[in-house]
Formats: sequence, structure tokens, C-alpha cells
Amino acid sequence: MQYDPIEKSAVSKLKVKPGLADYERARKSFSWWDVYRELDWLPGGGLNKAYEAIDRHVAHGNGSRVAMIWEGKNGEQEQYTYTQLKERSDRFANVVTKLGLKKGDRVFIFLDRVPELYFAFFGVLKAGGIVGPLFSAFGPDPVRDRLVDSGATILITSPDLKRKITRILPDCPDLQHIVIINKGNRDPKPLEGNDLSYEKLMSAAAADFKIVNTSQYDYSIMHYTSGTTGKPKGAVHRHQAVVQQYLTGKWALDMHPGDIYWCTADPGWVTGTSYGMLAPWTNGVTQLIYEGGLSARKWYQLIEKHQVNIWYTAPTAIRMLMRAGDEPMKGINFSSLRFIASVGEPLNPEGVIWGKRVFGMGIHDNWWQTETGAIMCANYQSMEIRPGSMGRPLPGIEMGILDDKYNPVGPDIRGLLAVRPGWPSQFHNYWRNADMYNSRFKKGWYITGDRAAMDKDGYFWFEGRADDVINTAGHLVGPFEVESALIEHPAVAEAGVIGKPDPIAMEVVKAFVSLKPGHEPTPELRAELMRFARQKLSSAVAPREIDFVPSLPKTRSGKIMRRLLKARELGLPEGDTSTLEED
Ligand code: PRX
Repeated sequence: MQYDPIEKSAVSKLKVKPGLADYERARKSFSWWDVYRELDWLPGGGLNKAYEAIDRHVAHGNGSRVAMIWEGKNGEQEQYTYTQLKERSDRFANVVTKLGLKKGDRVFIFLDRVPELYFAFFGVLKAGGIVGPLFSAFGPDPVRDRLVDSGATILITSPDLKRKITRILPDCPDLQHIVIINKGNRDPKPLEGNDLSYEKLMSAAAADFKIVNTSQYDYSIMHYTSGTTGKPKGAVHRHQAVVQQYLTGKWALDMHPGDIYWCTADPGWVTGTSYGMLAPWTNGVTQLIYEGGLSARKWYQLIEKHQVNIWYTAPTAIRMLMRAGDEPMKGINFSSLRFIASVGEPLNPEGVIWGKRVFGMGIHDNWWQTETGAIMCANYQSMEIRPGSMGRPLPGIEMGILDDKYNPVGPDIRGLLAVRPGWPSQFHNYWRNADMYNSRFKKGWYITGDRAAMDKDGYFWFEGRADDVINTAGHLVGPFEVESALIEHPAVAEAGVIGKPDPIAMEVVKAFVSLKPGHEPTPELRAELMRFARQKLSSAVAPREIDFVPSLPKTRSGKIMRRLLKARELGLPEGDTSTLEED
């Protein structure tokens, strides 16, 4: 019989009879066990994300289906079937096993979006490792913080990205091997020191690998995410998360086997792994992967050329496309598109309306986080979109709004957005930081860090963050990270960092800096500090604006009052300043 996961699931009910009534029915009759049964599991009873995403399609006779269509930043084109993904990832599993990888060891990948990133990612999962993808635009500091904290033993990178981080490598004592991928011989220089050639290792490796029998509770992926205090924390996910990634691919993104799907997120962030790898491939779709960045004309051409049916992107991208106007879409036929969704920041109602005008369909906002591992709340294909709302919780998920004492409040009241713990893709710890992990759970709820309200029909409406974390173009930035980088500059005495509202990126990072004696607040110094931070961190994280101030407002215990800096910047009431330092 032809393998068709859709047949077996409740999604067919949702699709045949769309509407809120069916959503309600699905919610009532929902059981995660039914979804567990739709997966194949390993022969020994274990669960492995790589098996569910790749190998099972081959086992069911669908190996010749195209899994990946890749377009490189230099116009290169490659295509891989599920069988080829299986073979490449099997080889890489053999490579890391031979390098000594043991179950639970951490392997980090610091690469642009090239096909080898994906082969390596699944190879590590098959070998039982924990994989940590790093955003390739990162500068040396964020890479060092993550390698050191995770104790990664293997790093997979490219010649040019390795050059960017050479100076921090001696700070990473656990790192034993560096595997260099020279995609298409883009950077033809001899390997340095003990570096290993990916190409050589792969051609020497066997093309078949018996997947390590991981259980659903074994760790699989870690993504570092920013909080208000301290350096980013490694949210660790288990193989079990694949259950929800698979289900939300079908229910929230409307995937069907054979669809052409494009997720614009980078695997350095959670959307790029949960929805740029796991959801699409567990659902048997063909995925477009584009290595380049945002360009309105190019993006529209990609949709037409590859006949994209489902497109998952971010509100900042949508606002940039809106700003680019209608010119770049001249002559482009969008008729292949069936479903568009976005995540990462609030989607303005104008974005939904723009989608209807330009593509003939609304854009479906959904909500989740690094910690939730998968979509929790969404506007579904089968339901009316409420522009400005992030939709309703996935069947099987309970979300609530709490007051400051963590007690639930009624409809239309703003409060803390919370989720009942126990969903399959729930993170299982912050790496080596159990206290921080435990602090996120109160009175039987997981506290998300967001503020929101729920209307009487159960739709959720995002209000903002409950903390100082900045959301710039969908990337979370911890002010502490940026402050720490700035004060490493010899001219800087203190730094305070806030998110300043921005019409395109939602927020931009703004820093207030006081200088050490002997340094003048000149435009040249400002430019130098910007460059300094960009080089250390990345342009995605570094401040877009820097103001010099004589001193920063602090509490009596010496904490910088970012709230006050923000209120002053926006001309808002300064609120309670009773704990402010007197000077
Ligand atoms: O503040 C919320 C915002 O992004 C945060 C999660 O960011 P991160 O862990 O990097 O995960 C990104 C991938 C989902 C949330 O706590 N956010 C996410 N989706 C939305 C959103 N804010 C408003 N509306 C959304 N749909």
C-alpha cells in the first residue's frame, strides 16, 4: 500500500470540513497517542528524529521523492532525494562515530545554508549525538560562548567561517576535531593544522549506518536562546519533539506529501531546524532551501520557479517585501501558493491584508519559542484568520493567561502567557543550568516570558515581552550579551542596552554608553564602537544606535535600569524610580 500519513490522521477531518467547529471537535477528541502511532519508531522501540524525517520514507518506498531543492548564493543548483539524504547522513554518522562520538556528545555546526549542513545535522542525530547549529553570521564571541558552555567536541565549519573564529578556538578546551566543508571548492586553500576534510572523510565512510537506538527521552538538539540576564542558555530538546514537529507541519502549516515548501529561516535559529528540517521532512514534502538573503525580486522568482505551495516566513521579511512595493513582483505568477504562515514577532494586520491583495490569501500567524520546540498556537487553514492574533492553541495544548501571582485570569485581560507543561516538544533543560530551567515553571504552568490576552473565542493576542529581551527582526537578543561586548572596548565604562521600536524590524538594538575618563564622545568613537560590536557579535545582534551619556541610571544594588532608559528614549512616564541610585 502507498505510504500516506495523511490518511491516518485527524487532519483529514479538519480539511474536509474546515471551520471552527471542526477545530473544537479535534480539540475534544485529541490524543497524543494517536500521533505517536503515526510515527514509525526504531525497530528496537526507540525514537530518532533522523529516522522519522528521512529513513522511513525510504523504508516505505518513497526514497525517490525529492527531499531538497537547493539554490546556492552563487546561483548553484542541487537536488537530493530522500534516498540520497539517507545515504549522505548515514555516511556522516559513520564519520563522527569513527571520530569517537558517543551518545550524548555535542557536535556544533557553523555553516551557511549548504546541503552539507543538513547531511551533517542528521548524521549526528543518527550517531546519537546532540547537535547545535550556529548562525553563520555570528562573530567569534557568540560562537565561543556556545562551544565552551556546551562542551562541544566536534565543530563542523567552512574555511572562511573558521578564519572568522580562529582567535577563540584556543578558549574551547573540549573541542577535539574540526571538520572543514569546502563547498564546491569555494575557498581552495590547504587545510590548517589538524583540521579534517569533510570530503575525504565522507568518501572513506561506509554508505550505510545502523542508527543508534536513541529513546524518545534522549537529547537531540540544542539551541541557545537569550534571556534578560547572563549569557544565552542552551535549550535542550529530546527526540520526542519530533511528534509535535510532525503534527504541526500538517495542522498548522497544512503540509501534504509532495508539497513544495519553503521556510526562509536559518537553522542557526530554532525555526530553521523545527520547520526547516523536521516538520517538512517528517511530512514527506519537497523542501526548497535558498542560501542567499532577502531580495524581493529573487524571493518572488524562487516561488514561481520552484512552484512553492507553502511558504513559512517572518513578519520582518513581510514588512520588507511590503516596503519594496509591487514592482519586484511584476510578471510573477504566484498561483502555486496555497498557504502562507509567519512566526517570530507579531504580524501586523496590514501584513495579513497585504497577503490577501498580493497572493490572494491571508498570512497565517503562529506563535511558539525556542523552548516550546514547535508551534503551540496558530491560525489554521481551516479557520478564519483574525488579523493581529496569533490564533488558537494546537489541539492537545493548553495555554493560559496568568496574573502576576500566576493565577489564571478571564478573557480579554492582559497577563503572562503560560502553557501547561508536558507537550511533546517541550525543552527539557537549559544546558548546565537547571535552576534557570526550574524558575520557568510556576504553579503548574510554564511561564513563557511573553505578555498576551485571550479573547472569548480562545484566540490569543500578543502584547509584548514581560522582560528586557529584545526582538529584532525575529531574533531574540539579550541586552546583557551586547553590554558585555561593549564594555570590553577600552573607552567604555558602562553600557545599557534596550530595544527601540522600529517599523520594519519591530525593535532595533540601542545602546547607551558612558565613557572612561580621557575619552571624548565623538562620532568617530561611535562608529568604532559599532564596528567593534558588529565584529565581536554579528550585525544581527550588534547595536544599530549608540548614544553617549554621562552615567547610566542604576538601582541601589548597582543594576542598570534598562526600563528607565527605555522610558526616557520613548518619552514615556518613568514609573517607579524609588530604587534608583542617588547621585
Ligand atoms: O516573544 C515571542 C516572539 O518570539 C519569542 C520566541 O523567540 P525564539 O525563542 O527565538 O523563537 C523563535 C521561533 C518561534 C516569543 O517568546 N514571538 C514568536 N512568535 C510570535 C512572537 N511574538 C508575537 N507573535 C508571534 N507570532
